Formats: sequence, C-alpha cells, structure tokens
Amino acid sequence: MEKAKLLYEGKAKKLYEVVGEPDKLIAEFKDDLTAFNAQKKSQEEGKGILNNEISTILFQELEKNGVETHFISKLSDREMLVKRVDIIPIEVVIRNVATGSLSKRLGIPNGKKLPFTLVEFYYKKDELNDPIITDEHALILELVKDVSELDTLRELGKKVNSILVPYFDAIGLRLIDFKLEFGRTSDGNIILADEVSPDSCRFWDKETNEKLDKDRFREGIGGVKVAYEQVRDRILGRV
Ligand code: TMP
Ligand code: ASP
Repeated sequence: MEKAKLLYEGKAKKLYEVVGEPDKLIAEFKDDLTAFNAQKKSQEEGKGILNNEISTILFQELEKNGVETHFISKLSDREMLVKRVDIIPIEVVIRNVATGSLSKRLGIPNGKKLPFTLVEFYYKKDELNDPIITDEHALILELVKDVSELDTLRELGKKVNSILVPYFDAIGLRLIDFKLEFGRTSDGNIILADEVSPDSCRFWDKETNEKLDKDRFREGIGGVKVAYEQVRDRILGRV
C-alpha cells in the first residue's frame, strides 16, 4: 500500500489517499494531543502508536460482534488502512455515567450512574465549538437524509456500547462515555469510522476510579502515556 496525496489533516490523524485504491485511505495516528477545541495543545511521544494499536483491536472486536467499521488492516505502528467514507459531521456521544460536559451543563453529579444509556448528538464544527444538537437541528442542517438515519446512529452507538461495556469490565475498566463518528460508504451504508481510543473514550479503573484516558491531559493530571499503555496492556491481557 503506497501513500498518495494527503487528503485531510485532523487534530489526531492524517488521512492519505492510496495509490491505485480509490476506495481506501491510510490513517496515520499523530502524537498530538489537543483539548477544548485545540485551545490546549501538546505532544506525547508514542501516543499515536498506542491509539493505532488500541483502535485496531477494538475495531476488530466490534467487527467480530457484527458492527461494520472502516477498519481494513493495520499497516504499521502508526498506520491503519481504512475504507474511504464521507464522514457524517455528527459526533455521537454515548454515556453510561455522568461526567464532563453533561455534569457541567445539567448539574448531574460527577460519577452518577445514569438510569439508562444516553446518546447525544454534537455538530462537528470547530468554528462553533461542536455544539450539542437536537434531531431537528440535524435535519435543518441537512447532516443526515432523514430521521431514520439518526435512529441508525443511535442504534449503532448503543450496540457499540453493549459490546464494549462488558469487554472493558472484564479487564477492570469502566467505560464511562465515548464519542463515535460514522461515515457513508460509496454504496450508501453508514459504518463506524474515526477511532476508538483513550482520546475518544473515558475509562475509569473499576477498583480506584483512576482516570485512564485523555482527561488526564484535559485536567492536567499528567501520566497520559502511562495511562494509555495501561489500557493497551489490559486489552492485550498483559496485566
Ligand atoms: P464531554 O463530556 O466533554 O462532552 O465528552 C464526552 C465524550 O466524548 C468523552 O468520552 C470524550 C469524548 N470527546 C471527544 O472524543 N472529542 C471531543 O471533542 C469531546 C468534546 C469529547
Ligand atoms: N478533541 C477536541 C480537541 O481537540 C476536544 C477534546 O477531546 O476534549 O480540541
């Protein structure tokens, strides 16, 4: 697989076209760490390698359980071959426990288990700071064709959650919440894209509630790489 032109550079990944493969892209995971819409920026050497490794395993686990993803194969320590999709500009956030912006916005105590899995939509638009949106907003903005596509996003989000909660529980981690992005393939299917990693999920240790994700960077706790390694090692059954 040979990289062609750089198609897009995001905060955490670069996407390249592939020579002779119009339906595929190479995702390269960067070491950059950003928070608060890139107002806070840093680098953590090796973070991209860890996220590529973790996302690879989680995409494979989801595929095994019937969730179609953009993952094709891991190409190198930082590179993943993926199906080319048009990203739907909606961040689908799935929450099991209140924290982060939910606690801040609605005053729900941090760490309170929610009575049911909450799915929220945010408009993926940096200039607007990714605002939370309703179904009607998504339709007015023409982010999806109709409400049934929003239902598909909700169902897929909950399905991913139902696979990953027991998966992480078995390795001593609570999946608190996470953000997914979906894309449309050339034949119109909606599939899971982007990444599933400690950049996009919150993991708390089951015993101690220690944070093992990007909140360590957001909150300036430090130990980001060690935390990501901890997640990777638990996934690999090393601890
Ligand atoms: P929030 O509580 O800040 O809204 O975050 C909810 C989840 O989404 C959490 O797991 C972190 C993740 N997330 C991202 O992946 N990217 C983002 O830009 C934001 C704001 C949150
Ligand atoms: N991904 C967002 C940013 O880079 C925010 C976050 O994850 O907290 O700014």
